Amino acid sequence: MIKVGGSLGDDMSRACADIRDLVLSGASVVVVHGGGAESDKLALELGRPPRYLTSTKGRRSRYTDSLALDVLTLGMLGRVKPPLTVSLLGMGVRAVGLSGIDGGLVTARRNPPARVVVDGEERVVRDDLAGRIVSVDPTLVRTLLDAGFVPVVSPPALDPAVGPLNVDADRFAAELAMSLGADWLIILSNVPGLLLDAADPSSLVTRLPSGRFEEYLDVAGGRMKVKLRSAGDAHRAGVPHVVLADGRSDSPVHAARAGAGTTFVEGDVQ
Ligand SMILES: Nc1ncnc2c1ncn2[C@@H]1O[C@H](COP(=O)(O)OP(=O)(O)O)[C@@H](O)[C@H]1O
Ligand SMILES: [Mg+2]
Repeated sequence: MIKVGGSLGDDMSRACADIRDLVLSGASVVVVHGGGAESDKLALELGRPPRYLTSTKGRRSRYTDSLALDVLTLGMLGRVKPPLTVSLLGMGVRAVGLSGIDGGLVTARRNPPARVVVDGEERVVRDDLAGRIVSVDPTLVRTLLDAGFVPVVSPPALDPAVGPLNVDADRFAAELAMSLGADWLIILSNVPGLLLDAADPSSLVTRLPSGRFEEYLDVAGGRMKVKLRSAGDAHRAGVPHVVLADGRSDSPVHAARAGAGTTFVEGDVQ
């Protein structure tokens, strides 16, 4: 399972040559991508700047009203997925793009109305189309893998009672990895891995005991927190090899498999 972050932009395709090598070696590979950064750009182009809300606990997240969900979906499925799929196809990889909705892959439940701060004002938000993943049905992905395809997957997920929902792409990748019994979960982003000081690339945590990942949540800023939590949960749930690595390097997947970035280790000693 390889997750490429939307923050990588054009660098996303750096992982493609490595994915081809893995497929040629006989491995089954699933690619998950996000698209927050590209969707924010699209939102500005469409004159609908993205909005954010802050929970009473201080957690900042995207405010996904119905139009914002449309823009997010257009960004992920219209701007991020096609070039990634085309790049893989160009290398001879039989890539197939799909979302969490297809084949009932990822089911989510909408977050309950919450008291939050939006645009500097405290209020209860009831129209946020975001949720938490409750289950994964990997049948479609297994079918594609068995037939030699490489699924290129992203949110949204589906709440049968509501419709499509925005869910976090790192969590999405982790849940898919757990459900498929993946050997590897490699999360590529635009940083070397988990940094003790986000401004200092040399402060990389190279080995992180998953038994203690909560202790690192304080050093991880907003968007790194969810990567850390998702990756740590996947490792604890039995995904043996979990790595947060730099997607900007030349051969990011091979490098991550060889120990670059932040590798989760057993137990609670570093
Ligand atoms: N301690 C930290 N270590 C690494 N990155 C951090 C840390 N704290 C905050 N970050 C931020 O998290 C970002 C990665 O998350 P995000 O922008 O969501 O990327 P992606 O699109 O790959 O999911 C980095 O670009 C960095 O700015
Ligand atoms: Mg992110």
